[in-house]
Amino acid sequence: MKINVLTLFPEMFNSLNHSIIGRAIDSGLISINYTNIRDFSQDKHNRVDDYPFGGGPGMVMKPGPVFRSIESVKQDNSRVIYLSPKGKVFNQEIANELSKEDHIVLLCGHYEGIDNRVIEEYVTDEISIGDYVLTGGEIASMVIIDSVARLIPGVLGKDESFMDESHYDGLLEYPQYTRPREFNELKVPDILLSGNHQKIDEWRKYQSIKSTLINRPDMIEKKDFNEEEKRILDIIKNEIRK
Ligand code: ADE
Repeated sequence: MKINVLTLFPEMFNSLNHSIIGRAIDSGLISINYTNIRDFSQDKHNRVDDYPFGGGPGMVMKPGPVFRSIESVKQDNSRVIYLSPKGKVFNQEIANELSKEDHIVLLCGHYEGIDNRVIEEYVTDEISIGDYVLTGGEIASMVIIDSVARLIPGVLGKDESFMDESHYDGLLEYPQYTRPREFNELKVPDILLSGNHQKIDEWRKYQSIKSTLINRPDMIEKKDFNEEEKRILDIIKNEIRK
């Protein structure tokens, strides 16, 4: 997958050169290129923002530098994503969908936003990473890159599966433990040491459903449960009522 990031602050992305994403870049599974939108300013002071028409606080990113920076990277098949608190809220489903694309352009705004003509002309998706306002789209772009890149085949090692984790199948992940068996008098649940894999699977399913019910009842509403899961959900609901 090829990713082009359009930003006024390319140096903010240095943190992506580490760990799993750094490895994916080094091995060529993803390539990320950064373009400084300011390089496309034709203003003698390199200005990229101006006052909003109609008045109001703050500054707006001018269309010219942004148009030209998009034109410099865009291909016919590109998804051009503008990060904005007004966008559709990002989730695992969108991450899955984006992980199948060949080319993604991430457009990071600053100030009060970007001249709307850019959005009308080029943007295919406007995405928010949550219901809060950041100072710019850079951190949101990094969230998208991290969550999408790890879904590309080969990026996670064979021991780092995303099949069991939170949000993969509409439930939150069960709790995990590792050695030692006892730490500061705190014990690992006996069942995980039992070697009985059927019982372990049942315990994990129970824990997954329980934490989803407590922390994310909205996900319980949406999930299509099988008969066994419905039975476990009823048990948990009864326990909580007591
Ligand atoms: N830019 C500012 N706030 C944002 C948010 N919540 N998501 C994506 N981009 C943003």
